[in-house]
Amino acid sequence: MLSGIQPTAGSFHLGNYLGAVRQWVALQETHDAFYMVVDLHAITVPQDPAELRANTRLAVAQLLAAGLDPERCTLFVQSHVPEHAQLGWVMNCLTGFGEASRMTQFKDKSAKQGADRATVGLFTYPVLQVADILLYQADQVPVGGDQRQHIELTRDLAERFNGRYGQTFTIPAPYILKETAKILDLQDPAVKMSKSASTPKGLINLLDDPKATAKKVKSAVTDTDTVIRYDEEKKPGVSNLLTILSTLSGSSVEDLERAYEGKGYGALKTDLAEAMVEFVTPFRARTQEYLDDPETLDSILAKGAEKARAVAAETLAQTYDRMGF
Ligand code: ADP
Ligand code: NA
Repeated sequence: MLSGIQPTAGSFHLGNYLGAVRQWVALQETHDAFYMVVDLHAITVPQDPAELRANTRLAVAQLLAAGLDPERCTLFVQSHVPEHAQLGWVMNCLTGFGEASRMTQFKDKSAKQGADRATVGLFTYPVLQVADILLYQADQVPVGGDQRQHIELTRDLAERFNGRYGQTFTIPAPYILKETAKILDLQDPAVKMSKSASTPKGLINLLDDPKATAKKVKSAVTDTDTVIRYDEEKKPGVSNLLTILSTLSGSSVEDLERAYEGKGYGALKTDLAEAMVEFVTPFRARTQEYLDDPETLDSILAKGAEKARAVAAETLAQTYDRMGF
């Protein structure tokens, strides 16, 4: 199992946590899991060196705070394992230009930057992601729903390589939990919560002041109806709040619907605000503890890189050999 997350400025948001990181924590118990902070992907858009370094460590601290345990999984930073860039080049040479052009995330992200500003790196970033996955012979990739197309590309390229050069790569499948595949923006439940697209009020950053977070939950956009019922189509805002509360509290959505029968949206929002505060308060404290202990963080990352490299180097050596290097 393999997955990665970008070292974004400030903090992970609730969508990252519920859509991806929460599953990572559960899956480390049952799988041989590789999790990484993808700093090479971060430079597809302009980055300040000091900020990139700080954000990468902050991402690692948050993953540890969320419950990743270096004894149960391999936790590392992508740039510490040079095989990612090396296999990335091989995969670039296997990808059709038209094929890469069909990746919708590039269309979205480059449109935001202005087409002239977008780099070739941003264009081929899904191909580097292919290399990330194939290096570890991952058969499952736990991600949010927005990554489905990239996993599809990974499968295509793995099959293409295996067909051309002989069986080399495991064909991976996405591992997407339907319930939390798309956490919505709290102010605009027509779109997913996202660092780049959401307004501050619609985005829950896990490291924000818990009081501010509670306030955002209480001012979440719902609808003009009053009934608390799960209906993605007709009641996306309320359904989103139910999903979040269900995941944080462990109660099923059906149980929550029953519990809130005859009650208004205010009651649901108050309880969700409380559950959020209960979750983020210790999360913030644990993240800070890891940041305050740089030696421990360095040692975790050094061991992680060593474990990851052992696997990645073997795959790359095989790949090079098959290709005639
Ligand atoms: P962002 O989409 O905010 O730029 P990333 O691309 O770094 O965040 O995503 C990291 C992980 O979080 C990916 O697995 C992605 O699918 C997941 N993810 C991001 N936003 C959401 C969301 N709103 N709902 C569910 N999962 C999400
Ligand atoms: Na494990």
